[in-house]
Amino acid sequence: MRQPYNRTIVISQNGGPEVLQLTEQRLSKPRAGELRVKVLASGVNFVDIYQRTGLYPVALPYVPGREMCGVVDAVGKDVGGFAEGDLVATATAGSGCYAEYVDVAADKLVKVPRGFDPHQVAGMMLKGMTAQYLLRQVYRVSADDTLLVHAAAGGVGQLMVQWAKALGATVIGTVGSAAKAKLARELGCDHVIDYSRTDFVKAVKKITQGEGLPVVYDSVGAATFPGSLDCLRPFGLFVSYGNASGPVPPFSPALLAEKGSLFMTRPTLFDFVRTPEQLQAVASDLFKVVKQGKVKVRVSATYPLADAARAHADLEARRTSGSIVLVPEQV
Ligand SMILES: NC(=O)c1ccc[n+]([C@@H]2O[C@H](COP(=O)([O-])OP(=O)(O)OC[C@H]3O[C@@H](n4cnc5c(N)ncnc54)[C@H](OP(=O)(O)O)[C@@H]3O)[C@@H](O)[C@H]2O)c1
Repeated sequence: MRQPYNRTIVISQNGGPEVLQLTEQRLSKPRAGELRVKVLASGVNFVDIYQRTGLYPVALPYVPGREMCGVVDAVGKDVGGFAEGDLVATATAGSGCYAEYVDVAADKLVKVPRGFDPHQVAGMMLKGMTAQYLLRQVYRVSADDTLLVHAAAGGVGQLMVQWAKALGATVIGTVGSAAKAKLARELGCDHVIDYSRTDFVKAVKKITQGEGLPVVYDSVGAATFPGSLDCLRPFGLFVSYGNASGPVPPFSPALLAEKGSLFMTRPTLFDFVRTPEQLQAVASDLFKVVKQGKVKVRVSATYPLADAARAHADLEARRTSGSIVLVPEQV
């Protein structure tokens, strides 16, 4: 008989990893337009940390988790195209994926093609669709480009490096340790800079013989600003898409003129998958490059759902590489 409870991680106040508490909630019926999904694995993302600490405010109490892969367990009214037992995934659920069951709007779900492992899918949807829009939409990377990916051994970073290589680009990756440098080389980075030991701006200037880059992908934020601007050639594009070390401080637009008539964008995935059609297109592109073996998804650690706090502590302390996922215990 199906259990009437849903074990769920809840945040009742902002703070450190310890505010992630395991609770039991009554299992609800999915509302019209929604499906209840039994979660097989949920992805842990840096955005979950920003929400936990309060950098990105959320209404409390809050169930974190925007990304998961699971099996359709119940179908609400007015939902077409899905049936119980379908393997599905989301990266735009909004919240609620750190749980055994999550209700997700049908237009935020995609069906998982055959041959994909649910843990791999949970580790690739949000990060991989981010890589898609950054490399294929924000700036269309080509074989003529040399580009910089910060935190190249991280979750998004690993997928960015491999996808950019598949597009023929020359890739410079920064990393914070010797072990991650080895990993970044294995992923295909043409040049790896350990920015904990080396001035990455000088290194990029040397690699590009002073010319600078057309585009820099920066998810690190405070610690790599304004250095990232100094890596760009005139009219280059600064893509600031994250704040792992803290937010980029406020600055005058005149700085962009001073550094070479630069462009800047601060994009977010959710604007690139606003409609179901956009979501399907971006997800299909991702499934395709993974299926072709051009991009490999490395889930470096799995944690029981109850250990969500440990997963956050590891991600925050730079102890992880690739993707990490939470797995609800099977009962
Ligand atoms: N805008 C969007 O649409 C979007 C979507 C998804 C993700 N993101 C952003 O992409 C970034 C990567 O996300 P992820 O979940 O894949 O995480 P991740 O890259 O696996 O982890 C963050 C990495 O950032 C580096 N880092 C540098 N300084 C740090 C510091 N002071 N504290 C912590 N980490 C530091 C670390 O790598 P090293 O040790 O090698 O320095 C760390 O492993 C995050 O900034 C996230 O917000 C943005």
